[in-house]
Amino acid sequence: MIEFRTENGGNINLDAASEAFLKVQRDEMAGWLEVPTKETDLEEIKRAAKKINSDSDFLVCIGIGGSYLGHKAVIDALEGAYTPSRTKILYAGNSLNSFALSKVLAEIGDKDFSVNVISKSGTTTEPAVAFRIFKEKLIEKYGSSEAHKRIYATTDGNSGALHDEAVANNYTRFIVPDNVGGRYSVLTPVGLLPIAVAGISIEDLIAGASGQSTDLEMAFLYATYRTTLAKHGFDTEILATFEPRLQTFSEWWKQLFGESEGKGGQGIFPASVVYSTDLHSLGQYMQDGRRNIFETFMRIAELSDKVKVPKTSSDIDGLGYLEGKSLDYIQEKALEATVDAHRAGGIPVFEFIIPELSAKNLGALIYIFEVACAVSATMQGVNPFDQPGVESYKKNMFSLLGKP
Ligand code: PA5
Repeated sequence: MIEFRTENGGNINLDAASEAFLKVQRDEMAGWLEVPTKETDLEEIKRAAKKINSDSDFLVCIGIGGSYLGHKAVIDALEGAYTPSRTKILYAGNSLNSFALSKVLAEIGDKDFSVNVISKSGTTTEPAVAFRIFKEKLIEKYGSSEAHKRIYATTDGNSGALHDEAVANNYTRFIVPDNVGGRYSVLTPVGLLPIAVAGISIEDLIAGASGQSTDLEMAFLYATYRTTLAKHGFDTEILATFEPRLQTFSEWWKQLFGESEGKGGQGIFPASVVYSTDLHSLGQYMQDGRRNIFETFMRIAELSDKVKVPKTSSDIDGLGYLEGKSLDYIQEKALEATVDAHRAGGIPVFEFIIPELSAKNLGALIYIFEVACAVSATMQGVNPFDQPGVESYKKNMFSLLGKP
C-alpha cells in the first residue's frame, strides 16, 4: 500500500477536499473515477495486443499530451519489473520535429511494425501529420489491405477525422469514453493497449486503481496541503524522485496538474527533478533560492542489493567506509539527507512511499494523483477538465500555415 507522509503526520481538516470531491463526482467529465474499463473491453485490448505481439517488432504509438504520456509513464517506470514482449513501443506525433520522427523510422528499418494512432478529438495536428507519414510507410511495405490491418485507432466513438477514416478503412477501433479527457485517460484503451502490448498486466494496473478509501484519503490530504500552501505564497511544486525510471511519470504528472490547474490566473506551477543528478543543478536553488517552493517525493521503499561498493586492496579513494554497502542503501541515505536538508532550508516536503515499482502500485499512484489533481483544481475554483489556453497557439499556427 502506498503511504503519504508529512512533517506533522497528516493532521489537517479534509472537509473542503471532501466537498470538492463531491463536485468532481458530479462533473460530466468524471468518467475516469468509475472502474476504468469493463472486462469485455479488456479482452478486446488483450486480443489486439496478442496480434500485435505476433506480427510486429515495433508498435508506433502516435499521440500527444494525454494521448501518450500516461502509457509511456507506466512502461518506462516498470522497466526491469516485468518480462518485455517481443514488440518494442516507439513514440511519434508528440512533436513536429523531423529529427525525432526520422529516428523512429530509422529504428524500424525493414522490421515489422504496427501503428496505434491515439487522438480523442481525431484532429490534433502533431499526431495527424505523423500518422499520415507512418500510414504511407505501412502501405509502401505491406500494401493497403494489410496496412489497414496493422492500424489501431483509439479515438472518439462517433465523430472526428480519425473516427471517420477508421470507419471508412476498417481499422481496429478503440473508443475514448466521452466522459474522460486525455490527461485522465491512461486507464482507458488510450493507455491500456500500448501497456498490454509492452507485456505489462493491465489487470494489475487496474486493480491498483480501484479507489481504495485509504487512497482517496491520501488524495484529499495531498490536495489540502498543496492548496493551503498555494494560499501562503508557495506557488511552485517540485515532484522529486531518486528513481530515474519515474522520470516519464513526472512528465505525466506535470501535464495532469499543469493542464488541469493552470487557468484563470490560478494554479501551482508543476516542475520535477530526478536526484541525485538534479541535486547538482536545481539542488542549489531548492536549498537556497526563493522560498516559494514545496516538494513532493515519490520514494521507493524496496531496496535492491544488486550493486555493491566493492572491497579494494587500498583505500586510496577514501571510500572504505562504504565497502560492501549497496548503491540503493547509499541512495536511501542521500534521500533522507535531502529531505532533512530541504525541510531545514524552509521547504515543505511531502512523501509518497511506494513499496516497490509494480503495475498495481502505479495504478494506485495514478488514481491518487488524478483525484488529488481534480480536487485541488476544484478547490482553487477552476475547471480541472478543460484546457482553453492550448487553443491560442493552435489558432496562431493555423493562421501562419494558411489552414483553410
Ligand atoms: O489532456 C488533454 O486533454 C490533452 O493533453 C490532450 O490529450 C491532447 O491535447 C491530445 O488531444 P487529442 O487526443 O484530442 O489529440
